[in-house]
Amino acid sequence: MGFGPLSWANTLLSTTCFAAFALSEHHIERVIAPRQGTSGGTLDLYIINECQDTIWPGLVTQGGSTGPNATGFKLDPGNNKTVHVGADWQGRIWGRTNCTFPNGPGSNGACKTGECGALDCRQAGNPPATLAEFTMDGGQDQSFYDISLVDGYNLPLAIVLLPNGVQALQKLDPSGTNPSCVGSIGDFAGSDFNPYTNNQQFLGTNSSSPIDFDNKVTADTVSKWCPWDCQVDTPTSQGDGVYPYPDGNVARPAFNPCNSACQRYHSDQYCCTGANEARGSCQPNYYSKAAKSICPDAYSFPQDDQSSTFIVPKGAEYQVIFCPGGRSTNIIASNKK
Ligand SMILES: *[C@@H]1O[C@H](CO)[C@@H](O)[C@H](O)[C@H]1NC(C)=O
Ligand SMILES: *[C@@H]1O[C@H](CO)[C@@H](O)[C@H](O)[C@H]1NC(C)=O
Ligand SMILES: *[C@@H]1O[C@H](CO)[C@@H](O)[C@H](O)[C@H]1NC(C)=O
Ligand SMILES: *[C@@H]1O[C@H](CO)[C@@H](O)[C@H](O)[C@H]1NC(C)=O
Repeated sequence: MGFGPLSWANTLLSTTCFAAFALSEHHIERVIAPRQGTSGGTLDLYIINECQDTIWPGLVTQGGSTGPNATGFKLDPGNNKTVHVGADWQGRIWGRTNCTFPNGPGSNGACKTGECGALDCRQAGNPPATLAEFTMDGGQDQSFYDISLVDGYNLPLAIVLLPNGVQALQKLDPSGTNPSCVGSIGDFAGSDFNPYTNNQQFLGTNSSSPIDFDNKVTADTVSKWCPWDCQVDTPTSQGDGVYPYPDGNVARPAFNPCNSACQRYHSDQYCCTGANEARGSCQPNYYSKAAKSICPDAYSFPQDDQSSTFIVPKGAEYQVIFCPGGRSTNIIASNKK
C-alpha cells in the first residue's frame, strides 16, 4: 500500500538530509475512526526532561496552519512543559545542549548541539540532534511520527502516544506505539532491564503488555557506536597525531554527540541527494547502520521509512521524553515477526 510522498522539503531545513518519502506497509493497523475528544483544533505535546542536565528543547514547524505556542525554552532536570500545536501541525522537536545566551534570550545562543538561533528557535536545530518528528494530519485520518537520527544523535529520546479520548487510539496496544532511542552510556540499562517490577509503568506500558526492548546492545557498544570520524569531539589519542581506526582503546566522552555521515561529508551517497535521491537508489551507510543497531526503531537515513515510521489514527497527543532511561525499543522489527 503506498501513499503519495509527503513533502518534507522546507527552506528551514537546509541543513538536513531529509528527502521526500512515501510511506508503505506498516505495523500499526490502519483503523480509521471518527476523531473524538480533541478540543479547539489543537493538540498538547508534553515535553519532559529526565536528563541529569538542563536542556533547551526546540520546536520547528514544517507544515500546518498553527505552530506551537512556544518554539524554544529552557527545561531543567525533572521538569516538563506543555506546548500545544495545531491538529494539522507538521514539525519536529529536539533538545539543545550546553546552551548559553550571552546577549539575552532574543539573540543568538551558543549551544553545543541543536542551536537554532535564539532561546525561541528561529530555525531548525543544527545537527547533530536526535529528533521527534510529527505529521499530525498526514491525510486519510492518520498521523505519522518517528524518532530520527538522520540529522545525527545528541540525546536519548522517547515518544509516548496519549490516546486523547480517540476511540481508535484507545484500542492500540501501547507497547506498539511508544518508541525509545537510548544511545548514550549515561542512562543506559543492561540487557536484564525490566522496568515493570513492583507494578511500575514505563513509557505508558505495564507488565501486562511489555515493550520489546533491544537485547543486543551492551554498555560497551552503546558507548562506542558512533563511527570514529562522526564524533563531534573526536578524542585525541597517543601517537604522532595519527588517529587509530578503528578507535580501539581511546576513551570517549560520556556525552558523545554523533554527526551523520551526510553531515560529516555532504556527499550524495550519504545524504541521498542528487544521483542517490530516487527511492531505492540510496543505501544505508556506515553511520546509519551504526545508528540503527543502537536505536532499531529510529530513522537512520532518508530512505529508511519502512522500519521507522509509526502510523496511527489521527488525534493523539504525545509525550516527548528526553533521557527516558532503560534501553532502546525494538518495536517495529518485533511486530514484523
Ligand atoms: C510535570 O510537572 C508537574 C509539576 O510542574 C508535575 O506535577 C507533573 O507530574 C509532571 N508531569 C510529568 C509527566 O512528568
Ligand atoms: C502553551 O499551551 C499550553 C496548553 O496547551 C499551556 O499549558 C502552556 O502554558 C502554553 N505555553 C505558553 C508559553 O504559552
Ligand atoms: C553538555 O551537555 C551534556 C548533555 O546535557 C552534558 O552531559 C554535559 O555534561 C555538558 N557539558 C558541559 C561541559 O557542560
Ligand atoms: C496496564 O496497561 C493496560 C493497557 O495496556 C491497561 O488496560 C491496564 O489497566 C494497565 N494495568 C495497570 C495495573 O495499570
